[in-house]
Amino acid sequence: MTLSRRKMIGLIGGGVVLAAGAGAGGFAATRRPDAALVPWDAAGSYKDPRMAALSWAILAPNPHNRQPWLAQLVGDDEILIWRDLSLNLPETDPFDRQLTIGMGCFLEILRQAAAQRGLAADVTLFPDGEDGSVAHIRLTPGGLPDPLFAHVPVRHTNRNAYEDRQPATAALLAEATSVVTAPDAVAALHKLTWEAMRIEMATPRTHMESVGLMRFGKQEIEANPDGITLGGPMLEALMKVGMLSREGQADPSSGEYQQTLSMLKSSMDATPAYAIVSTAGNSRTDQIEAGRRWVRLHLAATGQGLAMQPVSQALQEYPEQADLYAQVHKQLASPGETVQMLGRVGYAPPAEASPRWPLESRIADA
Ligand SMILES: Cc1cc2nc3c(=O)[nH]c(=O)nc-3n(C[C@H](O)[C@H](O)[C@H](O)COP(=O)(O)O)c2cc1C
Repeated sequence: MTLSRRKMIGLIGGGVVLAAGAGAGGFAATRRPDAALVPWDAAGSYKDPRMAALSWAILAPNPHNRQPWLAQLVGDDEILIWRDLSLNLPETDPFDRQLTIGMGCFLEILRQAAAQRGLAADVTLFPDGEDGSVAHIRLTPGGLPDPLFAHVPVRHTNRNAYEDRQPATAALLAEATSVVTAPDAVAALHKLTWEAMRIEMATPRTHMESVGLMRFGKQEIEANPDGITLGGPMLEALMKVGMLSREGQADPSSGEYQQTLSMLKSSMDATPAYAIVSTAGNSRTDQIEAGRRWVRLHLAATGQGLAMQPVSQALQEYPEQADLYAQVHKQLASPGETVQMLGRVGYAPPAEASPRWPLESRIADA
């Protein structure tokens, strides 16, 4: 989650009012975390086609921007992809389902990037079982360019308030299991997704998992280009005067925590439609496939000028969410199916790119 585009609109009685910023030029030049955004410019600039494909894949969406991928180059044309288990999210993703979906997003962009260079990615998932590497890939001549690849550099998770008009959803239906636009069903999802967010933030161990991953300001973002980034001149001004801090975010009785809640609610309520990816089974392979579909969906939406943001709290598998997990499945899935992804869709001001670790830091020794 990034609050980088939020714009301070007022300071009232010691409380902080943050509102979704409609652009305002994004980060002012001096506060832009340039070093953390280099991978967006470096993508594709490698000679080794494996490194070139990987340099695009690291731009994939992934939970809490943990970037849990590790790649090992083998021989001349092979890659082994691992998931770095030290980056797990044990509280909000106890079964690593969402992290596995993120790996699926990564593999899909890798495939598209290779195809763009005339290479087919021959992928074997979990070649040594589910406790080993996630995928073995061999790049061989072939591969048809995918039109969705053009949108990879401009696909960003957009947490702004969305406009109050229905998105054109036809192009999304090729990838989504369903798109919810009926006003009653949308209103029910406003309620459900907000309640799930409220529960996550009111449950100390799940909330603190997020607070621990917050990066406050350019310096912290550049030192650790991952997690939940809070940056830009407005937020940094608040940090300077002590009105935005890790302590405040951690403390449910603080004004800034309450303001964060109301700010999140107003963005989440400003949602005209939702897209869903669900699967008949829930194996690791199904989760990878869900990730592939999710990122294809997000890229298709980007191509249509649509914003998207996953709202995953009700899909998370810890006891406090169990009722909402059951409700969301009752509302959105057939019996036995798993809702893997649920996301907002609509028109919105553009979102900033989120940070990435340099590719070199994600290459494991052979
Ligand atoms: C499985 C999965 C679950 C996610 N859940 C959420 C979520 O609940 N809320 C949210 O704001 N973003 C969510 N995201 C988006 C990530 O936070 C985002 O991809 C990451 O921060 C990188 O940013 P980017 O997508 O703009 O490149 C999710 C992404 C994935 C793959």
